[in-house]
Formats: sequence, C-alpha cells, structure tokens
Amino acid sequence: MSLELRGITKTFGLFTANDSIDLKVEAGKIHAILGENGAGKSTLMNIVYGLLKADSGEIFVDGKLQNISEPSDALSAGIGMVHQHFMLIPVFTVAENIVLGHEKIGKFGVLDIAAAREAIIKVSKDFGFSVDPDAIVETLPVGIQQKVEIIRALIYEAKVLILDEPTAVLTPQETDELLKTMQELKRKGTAIIFITHKLREVRAVADEITIIRRGKVIAAVSPSTSEGELASMMVGREVDLAPDRQEHEIGEPILVANNLSVRNVSGTEVVKKINFELRAGEVLAVAGVQGNGQSELARAIVNLEDHVEGSLLLDGHEIRGLSIYDSLHAGIAYIPESRELDGLVSSFSIAENLILDLHDQAPYASGINLSAKVVSEQAEKHVLEFDIRLQSVSDAVSTLSGGNKQKVVIARELSRPVKVLIASQPTRGLDVGSIEFVHERILGERDAGRGVLLFSTELDEVLALADRIAVMYRGEIIEIVDSNVSKEELGLLMAGVVNEKAVS
Ligand SMILES: Nc1ncnc2c1ncn2[C@@H]1O[C@H](COP(=O)(O)OP(=O)(O)OP(=O)(O)O)[C@@H](O)[C@H]1O
Ligand SMILES: [Mg+2]
Repeated sequence: MSLELRGITKTFGLFTANDSIDLKVEAGKIHAILGENGAGKSTLMNIVYGLLKADSGEIFVDGKLQNISEPSDALSAGIGMVHQHFMLIPVFTVAENIVLGHEKIGKFGVLDIAAAREAIIKVSKDFGFSVDPDAIVETLPVGIQQKVEIIRALIYEAKVLILDEPTAVLTPQETDELLKTMQELKRKGTAIIFITHKLREVRAVADEITIIRRGKVIAAVSPSTSEGELASMMVGREVDLAPDRQEHEIGEPILVANNLSVRNVSGTEVVKKINFELRAGEVLAVAGVQGNGQSELARAIVNLEDHVEGSLLLDGHEIRGLSIYDSLHAGIAYIPESRELDGLVSSFSIAENLILDLHDQAPYASGINLSAKVVSEQAEKHVLEFDIRLQSVSDAVSTLSGGNKQKVVIARELSRPVKVLIASQPTRGLDVGSIEFVHERILGERDAGRGVLLFSTELDEVLALADRIAVMYRGEIIEIVDSNVSKEELGLLMAGVVNEKAVS
C-alpha cells in the first residue's frame, strides 16, 4: 500500500507548523523524514494518524482519498503509528491496551481480551518479540513498551507504519533489533515512515529521505548522502559533529559516593555499594548497557529514590536523605532521563517550567506571587540562548516538540549556580545542531570548574565528552578508565568483560 499526502497545512494560531507538505511513501520502502527540533515532523504524522486535524490538504491511501479524523479511521485505512511519547495506558495490561479505544474497528469484540491475547502471542512469535500480553504496561522497560505499540500496529494489519523517533529511548542492541524488524516488514510490503535524529540509522535502512525545515519540505535526497551533508541540510548551517575538548587542570573531589546502594520497590539491590569521586572540572561518564543500575544511581544522587544506603558528600556535606528540593538547592543541576516524568510540569507554561525550582526565590518571587514580568523576561533570554522554538513563553510546555521540551530542561538546569551537574541522557531527542550546542555547554560547565556526572547510553557521546569513564555492570562500577579507551574495549567492559575475563 502507498501513502500520499498533498498540500497538508496546519497552523497553531499564527504559527504554521506544516506548510503545504507533499509526500509520497511507497509500499515496501523505508522513507526517512529528517528535520530539526520543531520542524513539524510529529505534527504531520499526528495528522496522518488522526490525532490532529489539518487546516487543509488531502491524504490518499493506495490512490484513494481518506477521511481521517481519529486514530481508528487511520487504523481502519491500514495506517499504524508508534509515537514519540508512547500513548499506552500505564495501569492496563498489554492486551487491554491493544483492545481498548479501538473497539470501533471491529477487530475484537467489545472487551474481547482473550482474542487479543492470542493475537499478541501470534505476532510476537512471528517477529521474535517476547511480550507478555498480561503484563501491566508501566512495569515494562521502554524497549518492550515500544514493541507493544508496534504489535498493536501489526495486529491491526497496518500496511503503512509510522515510527516517530522509535530509537530515541532504545539501547543500541534494541535499535539493531528494531531496524531488522523494519527491514522484515519492508520485505512483506509495508510502507514505513521513519523519523529519527540519528543519521547513521537513516543511512543504514532508508530507501528515500525527505528533509523538512520550518514546516516545509526542502529536499528529497538519497541515502548515500553523507552525514555531514544531511546535518547541514536539516539545520541550515554547518554542524561540527565532534566537539573540541581542551585538556585542563582537574580539581578536588566535589561529589563523593561511599558504599552507595539502592534497592528497587521489590527490595532487589540495583546499585551495589558504589564508590566514586567526581572532581571539580571533570566529566565523569557512567557508561553501561541500559538497566545496569545507572538510572537508579542518577536518581539516588538527587534523592528521588526511596531505598538508599551509604553516603553521598557534596563539597564535604552529606546530602543523602535530603528532599529533592534541598538536593537541588545544595548545588546540583539535574537533567533527568525522562523529561516527561521528572523534568517538566506539563500543565505549566514554558516560562514557569524554565524556573521550576527557583520560583520561590528572588528575583522571581515577591511575597508568594511570581513576578510575571521577571519570569517571562528570564524565559525569553533562555529561549534565545538555547534556540527553543515556540510561539509564546506563556503557552503550556506540552505544546512544545519533543526536542524543544528537552531544551527547556537543559536551559533551566544549566542556568543555575551549582557545583555539580548530573546529566542523564542529556541529548535524547535533540537534533544534530542542538546536540552540538549542548555538548559545548556541558564542556563549558566542566571548564568552569563544575563536576559533571554524565549518564549516557550513547558511546559516541561518552567518548566525546568524558575525562574518565566508569562502567556499570549489574549494579556495580566494574572499572574506571580514561577517555582514550577504544570503542571496542568500552563495549567489552559494558558486556562485563574485564581483562578478558567475565565479571562473575
Ligand atoms: N498543540 C500545539 N499548540 C501550539 N503549538 C504546537 C502544538 N503542537 C505543536 N506545536 C508547535 O509546532 C511545531 C512543530 O512541532 P512538532 O512536534 O511537529 O516538531 P518535530 O519536528 O516533531 O520536532 P522534534 O524533533 O523536537 O520532535 C513546534 O514549534 C511546536 O511548538
Ligand atoms: Mg517530534
């Protein structure tokens, strides 16, 4: 089946998010869409999937004009979508998520969970996914949650599959699996729209590439186009993909962990008596395959985890057990792994989110009221400096594109006077131009004498920024190496192999 969009236009107030977009996606092809943060990619896809209504334009499936006004219309027309921010209901099971809200399509009888379970098991088997239909979605790792969205599309027999930044939250291994699944679907004749900021993935699987900038299609190019060329076409300027890291003097330990342990809700020790010293003026990266305790360690440092033991000294003062608020005010900037869960209050305005943890302090507060003028002036400053694409700082932060939400968190956290920066997956969802900028800023923090603890599953990012690299494996730091380690060595360490021996 093919999909054709003609003249799709979508405005939000005075702002044109999609400007007369034409796009043709053929059966059995992977069509990549590239574009900077806020270019209009998700908006366009949400229109195709019936989540947003276009102001004008037409959608054809196999040459037939479709009237798509809600997702069930899209699914009936054979269009499935995996969202940038998953649309699953966390407290429901996998099977319930696949049935509920789609009763109209008539695939399953009303609340026919048993039939859905069987369908899930069959699709999982066909594609080699291991997904338990009875698992509660919120207990599943993101990689599996994403498979649930793919399974839903497959069960409803999507012949056009939209993947909106599906790899942003995946490990490299999960990414490889997904790319293989995409190639298999392509062989079976599915038309795939693939949105990603990772140029290497595009060059690996795409048959066609369309580049969107500021709501307009600006080019269609072949996958043999170099990464550098793709990058500059996306953002409209040259992008330096490798930041400059100057050698400099490293200072005294500023954040010291002694026998730090974290247990999860079920009592399992996920961080096991960890010791490290982060020094002023250095970037210490924590590398590891996702799920080896890094997320819990990062959260524990800002006291977001409940079951923590051991000691954590910030500039000589014990901070373990403080509230999150007091931790941040003790001198920690925190870029959380999940901007949606821990970084933003989605119903607050962009301006409010830009000062979230400073709202009770001068110059923002006067008495108990926020000084609206100062708040919005400060916000405007951040917006310019961090190139946050928006209509008005008083809009809800939920109206921003994924990458621009991330920039709000980064702008806020990098603008506070702190001693230490804890950055967890700081460039997740950012376009190449913004990654370059954020990398420079992180190195700027280091050069200004702050300690930076960087958690990243992107090896290239770790190697580009780190002075030293601590490798986490099964809740422990199994080795700390310096930054001239090779990618291969680092890969082996991450797999738990130290000195050619597996860690037991
Ligand atoms: N509901 C809304 N109200 C106002 N503006 C919106 C709304 N939804 C999207 N926008 C604006 O439309 C623009 C395009 O957003 P979109 O989410 O399509 O970008 P994107 O290309 O997917 O970016 P990213 O790579 O960051 O995900 C953004 O500037 C965003 O602020
Ligand atoms: Mg998007």
